[in-house]
Amino acid sequence: MKVLAFNSSPRMDKGNTALILNPFLEGMREAGAGVELFYTKKLKINPCQGEFNCWLKTPGKCWQKDDMDMLRPKLGEADVWVLATPLYVDGMTGPMKNLIDRIIPLVQPFFELRDDRIRHPAREGTKRGKTVLVSNCGFWEMDNFDALLVHVKALCKNGNREFAGALLRSHGEALRPMLEIGGLVEDVVEAAREAGRQLVRDGKISTETLNTVSRELMSREDYIQVANQNFQQALDALEKK
Ligand SMILES: Cc1cc2nc3c(=O)[nH]c(=O)nc-3n(C[C@H](O)[C@H](O)[C@H](O)COP(=O)(O)O)c2cc1C
Repeated sequence: MKVLAFNSSPRMDKGNTALILNPFLEGMREAGAGVELFYTKKLKINPCQGEFNCWLKTPGKCWQKDDMDMLRPKLGEADVWVLATPLYVDGMTGPMKNLIDRIIPLVQPFFELRDDRIRHPAREGTKRGKTVLVSNCGFWEMDNFDALLVHVKALCKNGNREFAGALLRSHGEALRPMLEIGGLVEDVVEAAREAGRQLVRDGKISTETLNTVSRELMSREDYIQVANQNFQQALDALEKK
């Protein structure tokens, strides 16, 4: 199984997205998958210029010369795409959206009916794989992911890919400090690893495992208190400079 993963946090491995993404990918490797991980911060991916050259002038190819030349064949061949993004203003990051927009050459311009909806047929050589979303956010409530989930499920339908689940971590800012002080949250990281194993082994991730990844880390009241204390300390330190 070929897995192609993207981490679109500008904080890369220092960020909170990586705390869920990396064990998930480790689990997939343990179960025998070949995993390639790219950080959008290190990639050069220009925004789509909307000229449809990749459909009508140079079919299957974009005229822009950047890292999409290297990524496009990998995207076409991969069995699983892992899209990892921190929640930015209720959606994915800009670099992740640029990457998604530039996938258009993988489909043909023609319209066809699929499940009674107009869609584009895949270009030859593009696998019908699975897509997994990994995200974390700063706010406490799980419904902060609703808009992103709708978006990613829609792009899976549009691109004829199977949506294979989402590893979602709300109040994601709490995870790293809790891990550092040994705050009994190792089960969350272990569930992310188990999710990776399950996806490769069983072709799907259990709801129970996904629920453990997303489980409450602390009460909303405590989270508000700790966060506000940290913000205040940071601002007080500015005045002392
Ligand atoms: C520009 C920006 C927009 C954000 N928007 C949201 C948001 O809409 N909802 C939310 O819960 N958190 C939001 N956050 C918080 C991040 O999702 C959170 O800090 C996350 O843990 C960052 O992940 P990372 O460390 O992997 O980059 C935002 C952060 C930034 C920098």
